[in-house]
Amino acid sequence: MRILVTGGCGFIGSNFIRFALNQNPSDVLINFDKLTYAGNPANLADVEKAHSGDRYFFCRGDIADRSEVLAVLEEYRPDAVINFAAESHVDRSIHNAMPFVTTNIVGTQTLLEACLAAGVERFVQISTDEVYGSLGPTGKFSEQTPLDPRSPYSASKASADFLTAAFYHTHAFPALITRCSNNYGPYQFPEKLIPFMFRQAANNQPLPVYGDGLNVRDWIHVEDHCRGVWLALTKGRPGAVYNFGGDAERSNIEVVKRILQIMDKPETLIRYVKDRPGHDRRYAMDFSLAARELGFSPVHAFESGLAETIHWYQNNPEWLDSIVSGAYLEFIKQWYAKDQRL
Ligand code: NAD
Ligand code: TYD
Repeated sequence: MRILVTGGCGFIGSNFIRFALNQNPSDVLINFDKLTYAGNPANLADVEKAHSGDRYFFCRGDIADRSEVLAVLEEYRPDAVINFAAESHVDRSIHNAMPFVTTNIVGTQTLLEACLAAGVERFVQISTDEVYGSLGPTGKFSEQTPLDPRSPYSASKASADFLTAAFYHTHAFPALITRCSNNYGPYQFPEKLIPFMFRQAANNQPLPVYGDGLNVRDWIHVEDHCRGVWLALTKGRPGAVYNFGGDAERSNIEVVKRILQIMDKPETLIRYVKDRPGHDRRYAMDFSLAARELGFSPVHAFESGLAETIHWYQNNPEWLDSIVSGAYLEFIKQWYAKDQRL
C-alpha cells in the first residue's frame, strides 16, 4: 500500500510514520508537510537514513494549496491518505485563530476535493475528543455524543469532521474519522503540557498550572494512538467514527507533580496562574466501538509511560534545542506574560 501522511513532521505524524514502516515491509510512506513552527524534519532523521527514496519520501507542501496537493497526489498516487496536518495548540488558537481556519478547515476541504478527484481509496481524518466539548464529573464521550466545540481549535477540528462526513455521504468518498484524547510520548512539541513542564523544570523555572489544576485529561501514549489509526486504516468502516482513549484520566496538577517527582525537582516550582479562557473541565473517552470493531486497546500504563517519556526528553537535549525556535519563544513569552501567567 502507498500511504500519504500529511503533517508527518509533527509529533503524532512522525510517530505514526515510524510505526507504519514497521508493519508491512512492502508499504511505502509519503510525508507531505508544510514545516510550520511545529514541523521538524529531525523527528524523522532515523527514518530518512534507513528508508529515504525507497520506502519513505518527503514532500514539502501545504494542504490548503490546491496545486501543491494535486501535484503530490499525481506524483506518488497513494492508495490511502491520512490527514494529521493541523494547527494543534489550543492556547495559540485563543491568541490567533485564523491559521486554524486556514489549515484545519480550508486545508481539509482542499485535501478532500483533491483526493476525491484522484480516486484515493481510503481517507482517514485525524480528529480529537475536544470536538465533543467538556464533561462534568461523570460520564464519557461516545461517538454519539453531539459535537459541542468550545475553543477556536476544537471548532476548526469539528468543522473538518463535518466536511469529511459530508464527503462520505454526498460523494460516497471512502473516508472515516478517528477522535483521540490527549497524547504524550517522544517528539511532542514543547508548547504542550508535558514537554513544556519538563522544559520549565529542567531549567528550574516556574511551572504555570492554569486555574485550580483540577481540569482532567484522558492521557494516551502516542504509540497506542498510532496503533489505533493503523487499525482504522486497515480494518475501519468507511463513514465510521472511532474514539481512542488511554483509560488514564488524570488532573493537570497530578501530572505536573508526577513530572517533578520523576525529575527529582521540588513542588515549590509550581505556580497556579490565571486560567485559560473557556478552559474545558474534563475529557474522557469511551472507546468500546474501536475495541469491538477494530480490536483496539491501549497497552501503555500512564505512570510508566510518563516516566519513559520524561527520560526520553532528558536523554535527547539536542532534539529539544533543534525544535525551540525564536518564533516559539516569542509566542511563549507573549502568552505567559499576558494576565501575569508567568
Ligand atoms: P503538531 O502540531 O505536533 O504537528 C502538526 C504538523 O502538521 C506539523 O508537522 C506541521 O508542520 C504540519 N502542518 C501544519 N499545517 C500544515 C499545512 N497547512 N499543510 C501541511 N502540513 C501542515 O500536531 P500533533 O500533536 O502531532 O497533532 C496531529 C493531529 O492529531 C492533529 O490533527 C491534531 O488535531 C490531532 N490530535 C492531536 C492530539 C494531541 O494530543 N496532540 C490529540 C488528538 C488529536
Ligand atoms: P495541552 O497540552 O495544551 O492540551 P489541551 O489543551 O489540548 O488539552 O494542555 C493540557 C492541559 O494542561 C489543559 O487542561 C491545559 C493545561 N495546561 C496548564 O495548566 N498549563 C500550561 O502551561 C499548559 C501548556 C497547559
